[in-house]
Amino acid sequence: MIRLFAFWAGTFNDHSVTEAMGRQAAVIAHEWWFFFAVCTTVFIITMLFLARALMKRRTVEDVPLATGPAVLDPRRERTLTIAVSSAMGVTVVTLFVLLFVSISTGASIRHFNSKNAVTIQVMGHQWWWHVIYQNTAASETLQTANEIHIPVGKPVVILTSSNDVIHSFWVPNITGKRDLIPGYSTALWIQADKPGRFRGQCAEFCGHQHAHMAFYIVAQEQNDFDAWERAQINPAVTPAPGSLQEKGMQKFMAGPCVMCHTIRGTDAGGAVGPDLTHVASRSTIAAGTLDFNHENLLKWVRNSQDIKPGNKMPAMQITDDDLNAIVAYLESLK
Ligand code: CUA
Repeated sequence: MIRLFAFWAGTFNDHSVTEAMGRQAAVIAHEWWFFFAVCTTVFIITMLFLARALMKRRTVEDVPLATGPAVLDPRRERTLTIAVSSAMGVTVVTLFVLLFVSISTGASIRHFNSKNAVTIQVMGHQWWWHVIYQNTAASETLQTANEIHIPVGKPVVILTSSNDVIHSFWVPNITGKRDLIPGYSTALWIQADKPGRFRGQCAEFCGHQHAHMAFYIVAQEQNDFDAWERAQINPAVTPAPGSLQEKGMQKFMAGPCVMCHTIRGTDAGGAVGPDLTHVASRSTIAAGTLDFNHENLLKWVRNSQDIKPGNKMPAMQITDDDLNAIVAYLESLK
């Protein structure tokens, strides 16, 4: 309701089917408004007939006496038969029109594709999104998590898969839902026609933290996208000798963190959790659960189970000094 109000108030909503920012979403938004108009009309007509029936004054002829046989007026019976049959006919035709519009919407979305698309692999995990920009040169392949950058006005193909259970990729401003199924990859075409940051959400119940499985699509002009891509391909920065960040790096590499996370350019090569090579360039942590800032990083690294119970990252048994150093190191990974 709040979102609907925001729509009428004229503020942009970054998670809305009715505010299409891409061509796939535009087709879906048209269908949505068509269904809304038809269903509203049917609802109003039904309510008018109901109101008429409730207000009609009943006469003696309407109520057959319990003692005598019901007296049927053949003319009235025929009129009622025609009225009910017509209403059924209109209902069936309306349902077929809705079915046809739904099928043709699906067909026109499938129609979008291109030979020169940006290709991005997205793999669902409990409960985060693994994002890979493949390149024929392995050193140019980049990995990130929970934030998908795309160029504006260019077709993009998302190759979906899942690491564990069924998830569902959904960014309502950009396109409809697509299930991510273990062992089965599909191609989902998207295109953003305006720059912006659009919220996505896992739309298939996938365990305790399903609701905390969000992500963002960041649509950028080609130059900005190229700059982002070049920066992401670079290995992580090495902290200055003797700095707090360097101490944090040593603690990270000596602790359990290194078992699950990758930081390119270091010894950390784990694949259980998100790639942290440029974690400080992202706007959120824990799959859109918290904003990326100092306080939240401290809370998350100390005990992520307080924030997202059941996630695979254990509570850290570390001193405050070590925690501060590790967080300082993570914040330097721009
Ligand atoms: Cu992943 Cu719900």
